[in-house]
Amino acid sequence: MCSSIQDLTRQCGEAARILREWVEKEAFIPIFSHNDADGLAAGSIVAKAVHRLGGKFLLRIIPRIDDRFLDRHEKAGFKFCVFTEIGSGYLDMLGKLSSEAVLVIDHHKPLPLDFPSLIHVNPHPYGFDGARDISGAGMCYLVVRELSRENVDLAPLAVVGALGDLQDKNEARTLQGLNLEAVKDAEANGLLEVSTDLLFYGRETRPLPQALATTLNPFIPGLSGEEDRCLGFLSQLDIPLKAGERWRTISDLTPDEKQKIFSEITIYLSSKGFAQNTILSLLGGVYTFKKEDKWTPLRDGREYAALLNACAKMEKTGLGVALCLGERGKALEEAQAVLNDYRRTLGRTVTSLMEDKDRVKTLLKLTLIRGHGLVDENLISPIATILSGSGSFPPSKPLLALTNTRTGEVKASIRASQTLVDRSLNLGVIMQAAAEKVGGKGGGHNVAAGATIPPEGEESFVQLVEQMVGESLT
Ligand code: C5P
Ligand code: ZN
Repeated sequence: MCSSIQDLTRQCGEAARILREWVEKEAFIPIFSHNDADGLAAGSIVAKAVHRLGGKFLLRIIPRIDDRFLDRHEKAGFKFCVFTEIGSGYLDMLGKLSSEAVLVIDHHKPLPLDFPSLIHVNPHPYGFDGARDISGAGMCYLVVRELSRENVDLAPLAVVGALGDLQDKNEARTLQGLNLEAVKDAEANGLLEVSTDLLFYGRETRPLPQALATTLNPFIPGLSGEEDRCLGFLSQLDIPLKAGERWRTISDLTPDEKQKIFSEITIYLSSKGFAQNTILSLLGGVYTFKKEDKWTPLRDGREYAALLNACAKMEKTGLGVALCLGERGKALEEAQAVLNDYRRTLGRTVTSLMEDKDRVKTLLKLTLIRGHGLVDENLISPIATILSGSGSFPPSKPLLALTNTRTGEVKASIRASQTLVDRSLNLGVIMQAAAEKVGGKGGGHNVAAGATIPPEGEESFVQLVEQMVGESLT
């Protein structure tokens, strides 16, 4: 194990050199990336860099790597291929490929494997934590930065990837660690401004009362989810809600107006007994892309990430990639419609699940949600996140959500509270071990993990997970 940014940068330089060599040799570069916001940003960063080298690319967004994928890959006969934001957890499968060179640029915890055709760029062996310190898009950025200074204009995408992966989930709600490489480059080149500000949802695009009402973290009793009351609250503070015909957004507010809102909410939450820390979570790092038009979601890092995530989950990956590669206008309008559709679909699906008693089971050590036939495989992960944070289930048990995939397997997503993780629960380890025992594949982080398993293994899988959770928490 080596541990320095210099060593990691050297490895990025090596990856960049190999990428350039293959563009010169083959001119056509297949890139496979993961279907979430970070994956879309990561794949787009490499695609743009390949284009700038004079190469052509095929960028395919994939949910996982399985035998079916390997078969198709082999039939295509690629001599060289790139995997971004996916691959480190699948080195066992990628080792079966007959490509001459396989470049993997990822930040997931790697399997401890190597094979002769592999060029692997991952932060973990260098002493960095891929869950917190750098995103997949951030890793891709470090590679393409070694190709040309021109690629610094891709730094904002690395910031979007990190925000999409919630790498700002610390007390200061800011990006830290190696993510600061892209943040600093983007700032230095006039592309990004970072400020500490109110973290209300929809900073650039939502009318003020809506932005306040849709902010659920922290949940403000009497305001969260209550747009009318938010309207009353803001009017009573004498804050103009419109500029002419247009609704004002958080990004329009003057520092005085923001201070007024923050003070008033602080008094209100303190009177309800909320801790200072919770109140401070209303504030955090805001990432504003200065070259993007005002009042568009692409100007705010978190809104940009939400848009990409929706495109990824609603099978509009081409649209998400088009945005990353610089398309605006109609593409942006379409993506906004996709985000609205995504939110509506999630809301509807959560309601249907909660209303159907047969789908929600309280086991001894787990809450089990069965989404089969109702929840799309791409939505089970956000749904597990929403349900586990909804306050409707016992916080003392992890929440395991299952659904069937289009190819007949079962997709599992599991979430736990920080309190359980502090008691040394590690869901990533459990999902990996339990999935492997039933012939599937799993992994992830201590608080959030996933797996894909064969349908006949479902019952044993649930039992195994329950047993392992029980053993971890005794
Ligand atoms: O699939 P889901 O989003 O629920 O997974 C939660 C986390 O676990 C994600 O960060 C995902 O990348 C990771 N994961 C993994 N290996 C798997 C499945 C999920 O590393 N086989
Ligand atoms: Zn990621």
